[in-house]
Amino acid sequence: MTTSLQHALPSVARSDFNNDFLWGTATSAYQIEGAASLDGRVESIWDRFCSMPGVIRDGSNGAVSCDHYHHWPEDLDIASSLGSNAYRFSISWPRIFSGPDAEPNAEGLAFYSRLVDGMLARGLQPWATLYHWDLPQYLQDQGGWNSRDTVHAFVRFADVVSRHLGDRVKHWITHNEPWCTAMLGHADGIHAPGIKDFKMAIQVCHHVLLSHGLATPVIRANVPDSRIGLALNLHPISAATDKAEDQTAADLYDGLRNRWYLDPLYGRGYPTDVWNALADLAPAVKAGDMAAIAVSTDFLGVNFYFPERIEHAPGVSALNLRLVDAGDVERTAFGWEVAPAGMTTLLKRIQDDYAPAAIYITENGATYDDVLDAQGEIQDVQRRDYLIRHLAAIKEAIRLGCQVRGYFLWSLLDNFEWAEGCSRRFGIIHVDFVTQRRTLKLSGKWYRDFLAGRVLPAAPDVNTAGAAGVVKGEYLSA
Ligand code: FCB
Repeated sequence: MTTSLQHALPSVARSDFNNDFLWGTATSAYQIEGAASLDGRVESIWDRFCSMPGVIRDGSNGAVSCDHYHHWPEDLDIASSLGSNAYRFSISWPRIFSGPDAEPNAEGLAFYSRLVDGMLARGLQPWATLYHWDLPQYLQDQGGWNSRDTVHAFVRFADVVSRHLGDRVKHWITHNEPWCTAMLGHADGIHAPGIKDFKMAIQVCHHVLLSHGLATPVIRANVPDSRIGLALNLHPISAATDKAEDQTAADLYDGLRNRWYLDPLYGRGYPTDVWNALADLAPAVKAGDMAAIAVSTDFLGVNFYFPERIEHAPGVSALNLRLVDAGDVERTAFGWEVAPAGMTTLLKRIQDDYAPAAIYITENGATYDDVLDAQGEIQDVQRRDYLIRHLAAIKEAIRLGCQVRGYFLWSLLDNFEWAEGCSRRFGIIHVDFVTQRRTLKLSGKWYRDFLAGRVLPAAPDVNTAGAAGVVKGEYLSA
């Protein structure tokens, strides 16, 4: 359900942020590259998963998607024409290693080398994510992330890629959203590899965090002036009611959703309340693992999408709780609640509880049912307003003392949105998946004007006006 409630638009302008604030967009390899069997790329768990009937909403896959593998110069041209100064992308592991003992694939490395050179030539600081969910299928066949061998394979992958690109790539994100790798892939089974085993998911999570911890010093040794972190999807959690049992359930869920990742990364080990509640579902942890996971990082990547509400529900899940629908709230086409104030709350909480060296918003964005109008344009007023309101939420978080240093909008391009297939468009660039034609949406034009300083600060708050979607007062069109 998409709702379009009238809302006051806050005032936000680029000049509200420091001059060295990074402004970017984000993508990931499997979602945009296509070229699934070119230049030595082997099968990933997502290629395999998409071939299973009924798992992808529209039956699509990432075999072609935006064909960024061939269209990357055009895509980077648009990213740079927006005036952004950074770009987050991911490296496809199956392009780099074709088997457990294989030598690195020169063609795969050459592709990313060209891509990185293309970013630098356009003034885009490269931010490379090593793992954005596309595990080589041959590793899955040997146990995938449930096996410690995959941890060591990841460290080798990180070593090879950082050696190869480290002269030009200084910003590294080891993992994107370990929660999704673990829980969506191994508990809910709605993402690759499609396993439904909660105990395994908890073990997978440990191995993913461990691989972050072991890869970080390797990257740092290869790239001494690097900045390394990982990207977590974090959520503000609240209790559905003020009943004590719901509050306890919400705290526990916050532990599983947020603290299970943040606590060990910041040296506190796994949170005891969750560990005890998990009982025999808790992961096998070897001596030295927790110290490895607590390796110091240079930043925390925060992917923010929506808040969650929890109630106590005995017997419903391993932790006796369940998610409660938010009811009549504003939502994106995905059904995700639009809650910019929740972003401020979340950032403040992260700052207060963990004080990361720096915070980067590594993803934030929205899907709406875009339509091409008679002129072939996309007037995605809702996505633009989503952007305005979330940037204002970050501005407020910074005012409250949060060390937020950059923003990567999800996403540069409409792309293959995992289990939702190509049916959910998150881009500020519309992609026609048949002709591969790119069209900058209204939201992208707004981001461009914002970055160019054509959106003025300190104007009165106003409402979105009419179908043309012009925000009057604070927004000066070019
Ligand atoms: C995040 C993923 C990203 C994209 C957005 C919408 O969880 O990291 O790849 O799917 O959601």
